[in-house]
Amino acid sequence: MSVRVDDPRLLACVEDGPPDIGTLWELCMHFEFAREVTASGIADWLGPPDQRRILDSACGSGFPALELIAMGYDITCADGSELMLRHFRRNARLEGLTVEPVQLWWEEMPARFGDSYDIVINRGGGNYKYAGAWDVERLPDRLAMREAISQWVRCLRPGGTLYIDFARESELEHLRPEVSTHPTLLIGDHRVDIVEQITVDHEAKVRYWHSELTIDGQRHEFQRRSHCLSREEFTTTLAGCGLTGIEQIAIKGEHYDVYSATRKKEG
Ligand SMILES: C[S@@+](CC[C@H](N)C(=O)[O-])C[C@H]1O[C@@H](n2cnc3c(N)ncnc32)[C@H](O)[C@@H]1O
Repeated sequence: MSVRVDDPRLLACVEDGPPDIGTLWELCMHFEFAREVTASGIADWLGPPDQRRILDSACGSGFPALELIAMGYDITCADGSELMLRHFRRNARLEGLTVEPVQLWWEEMPARFGDSYDIVINRGGGNYKYAGAWDVERLPDRLAMREAISQWVRCLRPGGTLYIDFARESELEHLRPEVSTHPTLLIGDHRVDIVEQITVDHEAKVRYWHSELTIDGQRHEFQRRSHCLSREEFTTTLAGCGLTGIEQIAIKGEHYDVYSATRKKEG
């Protein structure tokens, strides 16, 4: 089965040199949600743009920051990966937006942005699970998850709000490797095929995301490892990072479970 996709961002992505993890992420997002619908769901949650300052602490290739900036929100875009920021700059250009993202690792953000944002958004299916292991394939440090979240919290003013998500793991992937063969994407003159496989190592509590990306017959393989984290461990971790009012919120068009939480006011 094949699907024609008329998306200038995906066409530019496919034509922008050898594929990397950012290319794969951009393409995989296409199977999960429609950018405009999800961004407008996030905007519904935010309420109308006003003077609140928002930090996207994992802006990656630009979702949802670019869509929200186009709607008038005041967003600082930051990410550690120069590789992802290359995709961000290309997408910003295509959207006609003049936005310069800040290249910073999470551990560097509190010194630069400490206590200053009304809202910090960190969206992407549990980015904390890949802390320090996104650009390169390695097993992230389990402790780094908590450190990452507390670094985002420290960028909030006391009383500010964190937007964070949690990727539900399917029942099936815990029983056996789960393989998703996506329909062929026809993008401009290009044929793009993606096969994703999720495997879980129960003893080590590690999840393997293995992907084969084939563009015009040329196959590229990627693998990333992340930690398995139960919902209970996730919410307990949030509470341990100085957050209160932790609640799951409904975001229209979002593929992941989303939580909001408030940075405790000191004293
Ligand atoms: C799954 S992508 C999500 C990007 C985007 N928010 C989205 O939803 O499409 C995760 C992002 O987190 C960034 N990241 C991972 N570890 C990081 C770290 N230690 N410091 C800063 N950024 C990091 C990666 O570079 C990547 O852009």
